[in-house]
Amino acid sequence: MSHILAIDQGTTSSRAILFDQALKPVTSAQEEFPQYYPASGWVEHDPADLWATVAGTARAAIERAGIGAEDIAAIGITNQRETTLLWDRSTGQPLHNAIVWQDRRTASLCTALKEAGHEPMITARTGLLLDPYFSGTKLKWLLDTVGGARDRARRGELAFGTVDTWLMWNLTGGRVHATDATNAARTMLYNIAENRWDDEILALLDIPAALLPEVRDCAADFGVTRADLFGREIPILGVAGDQQAATVGQACFHPSMMKSTYGTGCFALLNTGDQMVPSQNRLLTTIAYRLNGQTTYALEGSIFIAGAVVQWLRDGLQIIRSAAETQGLAERADPAQEVILVPAFTGLGAPWWRPEVRGAIYGLTRNSGPAEFARAALQSVGYQTRDLLEAMRADWGAAGDGVLRVDGGMVASDWAMQFLSDILGAPVDRPSVTETTALGVAYLAGLQAGLQPPPEDFANNWALERRFVPGMDPGLREKKYAAWKRAVAATMAAA
Ligand code: G3P
Repeated sequence: MSHILAIDQGTTSSRAILFDQALKPVTSAQEEFPQYYPASGWVEHDPADLWATVAGTARAAIERAGIGAEDIAAIGITNQRETTLLWDRSTGQPLHNAIVWQDRRTASLCTALKEAGHEPMITARTGLLLDPYFSGTKLKWLLDTVGGARDRARRGELAFGTVDTWLMWNLTGGRVHATDATNAARTMLYNIAENRWDDEILALLDIPAALLPEVRDCAADFGVTRADLFGREIPILGVAGDQQAATVGQACFHPSMMKSTYGTGCFALLNTGDQMVPSQNRLLTTIAYRLNGQTTYALEGSIFIAGAVVQWLRDGLQIIRSAAETQGLAERADPAQEVILVPAFTGLGAPWWRPEVRGAIYGLTRNSGPAEFARAALQSVGYQTRDLLEAMRADWGAAGDGVLRVDGGMVASDWAMQFLSDILGAPVDRPSVTETTALGVAYLAGLQAGLQPPPEDFANNWALERRFVPGMDPGLREKKYAAWKRAVAATMAAA
């Protein structure tokens, strides 16, 4: 009874990682699933795919370890956040595909709500901005669009959930309709100062409270799995949104510590302790984690396209076969060319929040080719992170202790990490375990199971693999960053 199974349900794939009691990964399994783009700017997932890939990878990770379900003390769930699902409580059948966090279909609704003056109230209570990114307007869209849904919701027949809630519902055979404070914080319906669903926002969006899950701490009792799934009931003891789980996995437990995760997008979180810091610079205020009823807050900068830009080089432009090739190409790029890519493929997130903007590329010459495109793609991730850090520095003094802990698939590229450090003018720390999202939620589940020590002791196990330090001449750094800012301004002006 010493292993912990971490379920990491992400935007493009589901993964399961089995950890031993020392929180060392033992086995893992991963499965991709289809993305649906029914209209420009719309992104959907089939809820059945989310569940099937989670159940399949969880079973595969357990089988590969050659252990039985009786050796698993607990399950932790971490997930793509904001993605919105609605289902029938009696049958468990979804009423619609899941509307993914990247989906922009509610952009005009958000604009109308902003023009009607509702944003300050929403920001004060939820820490978020009026953007289609969050679940609230997506849920309103579902209730407005699916015939009879609102009436059925009022009668208590339907359940809303983010992906964690949907997975818990299925894992427990419909016995648990719950979420954790970090996922609730991303719905735009949850008052993060008072830790409760916000009646005024629910009324504004005409969302019946009967739809909502119960909100628990990140390390808590979330029920047990159906016995037939793994051969035994296994308790679910940890839940956190993927970016918050990474914050825990990176051991950013003290105010001023920050991490940035490079998955599909890039999400930087700065721990602000028990202070809910309102941003003056269009960052989000959010819950980093809630343990024993105590909320720890964070400032968050969210960029929608980071690793996805490398996918675009591979699948869209088809100039690389694997992500690893970008490094060699970037190294070979012509230093005399200043090609800048603004990857606003699904609009711009923090600190701009312009859902209607689309991507652009600048500085092309007849000599620009795959190498310059690859370099521009990797650099765009660095430049966007700098935008976030500038905003964090303005909101929170020197933006923490100045060190950025990084994780996620893209951090494998030394070139990208060196450029990141160069353009930030700050140290970038890559830990020896870069699977921090799964590690974070495994720790939360282990903590609740009584198998893991308190956060300070867990933090002592965080190990540095490599620190990248800025090597770029400060004059050149500022010249390059100024060129990026001009490119972003021109892209926004063209929208
Ligand atoms: O807010 C969206 C975020 O949680 C998605 O994360 O890793 O699936 O890109 P990821």
